[in-house]
Amino acid sequence: MKKNRKWILAGVLALLCYSLCIGQRAVNYDETKVPSFILPNPLVTFEGATIASIRQWENVRKPELLRFFTEQVYGKVPGHLEMHTYKILEQGESRIYKNTLRQQVKISIKNQSGELSFTLLLLLPKNSRRAPVFLGCNFYGNHAAVSDPEVIISRAWAKNNEAYHISGNVLTAASRGVRSERWAVQQIIDAGFGLATFYYGEIDPDKNDFSDGIHSLFYKNGQHRPLANEWGSIAAWAWGLSRAMDYLQKAKAVDASKVIVFGHSRLGKTALWAAVNDTRFAAVIANNSGCGGAALSKRCFGETWGVMNKSFPHWLCENAKKFNNNEVKLPVDQHELISLMAPRPVYVASAKDDRWADPKGEYLGAYFAGPVYKLFGAAVLPDSTMPAVHRPVHHTIAYHVREGGHNVTGYDWEQYIQWAKEVVCSD
Ligand code: GCU
Repeated sequence: MKKNRKWILAGVLALLCYSLCIGQRAVNYDETKVPSFILPNPLVTFEGATIASIRQWENVRKPELLRFFTEQVYGKVPGHLEMHTYKILEQGESRIYKNTLRQQVKISIKNQSGELSFTLLLLLPKNSRRAPVFLGCNFYGNHAAVSDPEVIISRAWAKNNEAYHISGNVLTAASRGVRSERWAVQQIIDAGFGLATFYYGEIDPDKNDFSDGIHSLFYKNGQHRPLANEWGSIAAWAWGLSRAMDYLQKAKAVDASKVIVFGHSRLGKTALWAAVNDTRFAAVIANNSGCGGAALSKRCFGETWGVMNKSFPHWLCENAKKFNNNEVKLPVDQHELISLMAPRPVYVASAKDDRWADPKGEYLGAYFAGPVYKLFGAAVLPDSTMPAVHRPVHHTIAYHVREGGHNVTGYDWEQYIQWAKEVVCSD
């Protein structure tokens, strides 16, 4: 008995040391253990002044919130650079998708420090004059996102993945179409929309290494990584979405006033940040975006700020790490990120079993952006209780939670297309 007690004590001590060493709390999936917290009011300034009009919002509160998210969360882009040139590498009618025109465009960015190019795949409905477009980054290359064999394979660094036949960090034809179930190409085309996508690793490989990708084009002499308030990878990918938009504005077959930026998971966080910064995006969809996306950080449910910044130290800016395991000190929360979109339409979506991304926190992120949208007279989520599974709510702020786990499914796309028709493209 005594011996047993000794072992138990040793175990508890070891666990304590482990938690202290890695400086993290255990992941919480218990609603009763969500800490009580005060959610910052998007309509009260950091100094405590109340915001009562669109003018005050635009002139006072929005800039201070945007500054905070820029300097302390995602990091600022250290300079201004737009698309330098574009080149149509290939175009034709798809043999796989019906009534679909395919275009592959090399978009180049250039300054005195160097040049970076990425390839945008654009699929458009054949008989439309100017189509609204869903634009989003993909995880494993354009050729993995769709089943069209004409799609060019990226030469950028890729994360190895046995299931997708990726080894040696090289993308090959073996992964053609492996992620195509995530992109409802035919439904998108049949509904009269286009789809534009590019491989996020062409903007910045998703690893904690700032020597590759776009960051180095902006370094001052002797600089090897972004400063504490400068961009991490999420801000870099978001910036890439804006460069894709530079091209979409030039593409005659695209209605550039109706580009909806879309993203799943880390790329959902990315889509939100892109849309907040670039008002050319008509709307945004954040699918299962979780921590650093739509989910409220102060709930500390599922993935937390500290856990994310430890596993993916390159995503946010260095300053953001001050709030690791210290969400209580964060003077903002993610509902305020969403409110920076107002009054442009925003769709937040969750999956019931994706507890890591905190579905309830995602809902509340969207719900508590409501007061700012209401200033503009926009329709918001009416209820503080999240809707039941498969009961989408489609207003200017929209939300659904579906059955299943972390993924993008046909159900999700059905909702996005319907909402895009009704809310984003209604005029
Ligand atoms: C990890 C990470 C999440 C992220 C997800 C993804 O699970 O912890 O923050 O959203 O990867 O991008 O798939």
